[in-house]
Amino acid sequence: MKEKISVLISEEEIERRVCEIAKQISEDYAKKEVVLICVLKGSIFYTCDLAKRLTIPVTLDFMKVSSYGSGTVSNGAIEIQKDLEESIEGQDVIIVEDIIDSGNTLNHLVSMLKRRNPASLRITTLLDKPSRREVEVPVDYVGFEIEDKFVVGYGLDYDQSYRDLPYIGELHL
Ligand code: IMP
Ligand code: MG
Repeated sequence: MKEKISVLISEEEIERRVCEIAKQISEDYAKKEVVLICVLKGSIFYTCDLAKRLTIPVTLDFMKVSSYGSGTVSNGAIEIQKDLEESIEGQDVIIVEDIIDSGNTLNHLVSMLKRRNPASLRITTLLDKPSRREVEVPVDYVGFEIEDKFVVGYGLDYDQSYRDLPYIGELHL
């Protein structure tokens, strides 16, 4: 392991922010039930922690997608590697993302899910790198805006490693 990792957002900071977002979502969706869509694999930690803190009824579903050369292919679609198990038609849906970078993956995911006619569709992401955005996506609940750094931990990986770190770290190669 030659990479070095420094703490960018501590475990405590993440926990505090996730609680705030959960409170906000619970208020916004009072008397409703939401479907949280965990976008695998990066969003697993955030999805679990968020779901535990919501005070409204929640169901969970999982999706795995990969984008074809985002940024190079103009209308490059996404490939579904694992689809949802339940229909989202008529449901209040929140996509749970780990990080939004160019926005390409999420942009395609949103258009695909809208065609399935959910009652509503919102997005939450733990991390946002706005300086890297290539396509505008409306994000409703953002945990932290970060600079253009490569980060790992709390679900995020570098070549599949470091997802297990309880904090968000900056990777120094
Ligand atoms: P984009 O928004 O389509 O460019 O891609 C976002 C995806 O790229 C995220 O869901 C992550 O899987 C990955 N990604 C982007 N930035 C980082 C990072 O700093 N660390 C780890 N994965 C990242
Ligand atoms: Mg992701």
